[in-house]
Amino acid sequence: MNSQQIHLVSRPAGVPSQANFKLVEVALPDLKDGEVLVKNTWMSVDPYMRTRMIDRKSYIPPFELNAVMDGGAIGEVVESRNPRFPVGAKISHISGWRTAFISDGQDFTLLPDVPLPDQYFLGVMGMTGLTAWVGLIKVAHLKPTDTVFVSAASGAVGSVACQIAKLCGCRVIGSVGSDEKAELVKSMGVDAVINYNKVDDLTQALQAAAPEGIDVYFENVGGDHLQAALNVMNDYGRIPVCGMIADYNADTPQPGPTNLLFITMKKLTLQGFIVMDYFDQFEEFASQMAPWIAEGKVKSEETVYEGIDHAVDAFLGLFDGKNRGKMLVKL
Ligand SMILES: NC(=O)c1ccc[n+]([C@@H]2O[C@H](COP(=O)([O-])OP(=O)(O)OC[C@H]3O[C@@H](n4cnc5c(N)ncnc54)[C@H](OP(=O)(O)O)[C@@H]3O)[C@@H](O)[C@H]2O)c1
Repeated sequence: MNSQQIHLVSRPAGVPSQANFKLVEVALPDLKDGEVLVKNTWMSVDPYMRTRMIDRKSYIPPFELNAVMDGGAIGEVVESRNPRFPVGAKISHISGWRTAFISDGQDFTLLPDVPLPDQYFLGVMGMTGLTAWVGLIKVAHLKPTDTVFVSAASGAVGSVACQIAKLCGCRVIGSVGSDEKAELVKSMGVDAVINYNKVDDLTQALQAAAPEGIDVYFENVGGDHLQAALNVMNDYGRIPVCGMIADYNADTPQPGPTNLLFITMKKLTLQGFIVMDYFDQFEEFASQMAPWIAEGKVKSEETVYEGIDHAVDAFLGLFDGKNRGKMLVKL
């Protein structure tokens, strides 16, 4: 069998383009004992992948040039010489960005036998949902009395964070880049939504949406969003720093917020976190999230591109706001 794969062929300067990637077809060898052949059915594209295109030391190694990239994916075993993974087994793994591959299954997780669409295990029941839950519950120690501000609120992590915060009894404010996304976020029960492309002054808009101030800022964006949140935070506020997508394509250092002194004056806690450090808490997360989904209390929003030849478009679309909810590629 042949596998189509996406290789990174040059490191982007600024906003990545199609020229940084190449679709390559390789022939896969015959299986050896202990190996399985997997056909991927879904793959995830994520903003953090942009940070792996830079050759620097980080919590995860950079992508190599002229080699297949990797990332979260779901696949089905189509040939097996490994009794743990028979033909037909569905698995989640990190060998995305390719249509098929051979593995000994070391890093595979079998999908549980539950009546949920497979792709949920890349989104709301997978890394995305876990990230939102960890940031709010484990890092920010959310309380029902909190007013919560979520940036990139219609995105994969943001849309789940908004729904979890509402389920915990909080008042929730979201920020998004379009009116259409604002409608989506409102339909999830969020109390107030700011379209940051339509306001002159984000701090004023946030103050109007949260007259009593903000207790928790779920940080996905950075830049002007962090500046505005620091202005409006209440004393002892918590900021789980999930990501700062506004900085990912910057090829020169970006100006920091000018109001960091508020961290001291308001006695704030800012804590970065990486979801993979919390994989051991997946069971606890799943025991809360699965019933929420089953009862219709958490809804999964998805944007789906079709085919490996559109995987790069899907990835680039994250930085143009093309997605509502989780950005996925169906293979
Ligand atoms: N710490 C962790 O372990 C972890 C795990 C997963 C994700 N993350 C981080 O969480 C954040 C959200 O990730 P995600 O997977 O859920 O992606 P996402 O929010 O689904 O997709 C990106 C969205 O970000 C917004 N955006 C893009 N560029 C922007 C800019 N320059 N300024 C403001 N908004 C911008 C766009 O929405 P609008 O159209 O509304 O602007 C876009 O749709 C990212 O920072 C990501 O790196 C962290």
